[in-house]
Amino acid sequence: MADLRTGDLRVRELRADDLRNGFLETLDALRPTSGIETAAAAAVFERLQRSPDTVVAVVEQDGRIVGTGTLYLLRKFLHGGSTAGHVEDVAVAAGRQRSGVGSAVIRYLLARAQQAGCYKTVLYCEDDVAPFYRKLGFRRTTNGMRFDHDEAPVSGAT
Ligand SMILES: CC(C)(COP(=O)(O)OP(=O)(O)OC[C@H]1O[C@@H](n2cnc3c(N)ncnc32)[C@H](O)[C@@H]1OP(=O)(O)O)[C@@H](O)C(=O)NCCC(=O)NCCS
Repeated sequence: MADLRTGDLRVRELRADDLRNGFLETLDALRPTSGIETAAAAAVFERLQRSPDTVVAVVEQDGRIVGTGTLYLLRKFLHGGSTAGHVEDVAVAAGRQRSGVGSAVIRYLLARAQQAGCYKTVLYCEDDVAPFYRKLGFRRTTNGMRFDHDEAPVSGAT
């Protein structure tokens, strides 16, 4: 899909050089991330590159990454072989919040989900952020459930 431009924001897919240009610092708004080893970050990027059902979107402003969100396309047997979208890791850099960056990320990901034929897109969020998603057309649905495994494959994964 073409990049999405709105004002001075450009929404596009993650590139390797974004790892050194604000992407990891942007994720710090969600939880501390920029301390990740360079090789580990590169390995994650390489793996994502090989996954056609994952879209990592970034928002570029003044040449630097200030927002991000990830769409996972879930291929299902239900509904005659359907696709659902799952959005994760939505973050806007501290100091750039409340200026439309998060909305631009979500609109881009919803357009990608639509283009991929998704019949729904879901996400989990804390209560205090729900108004942000409601404004973008999401509605509250069923309870989220979580199982914590004994050993996470990457230390400190949350
Ligand atoms: C939540 C977040 C992604 C929103 O992105 P953003 O760029 O700040 O949001 P926008 O400027 O596009 O907001 C559009 C509207 O959504 C609402 N909104 C945005 N953030 C909100 C929040 N934290 N609480 C309640 N409403 C919010 C507001 O109505 C806002 O319009 P306004 O600024 O005119 O009042 C961003 O603030 C962020 O990264 N927060 C920290 C990490 C986080 O909580 N991520 C979400 C994980 S599910």
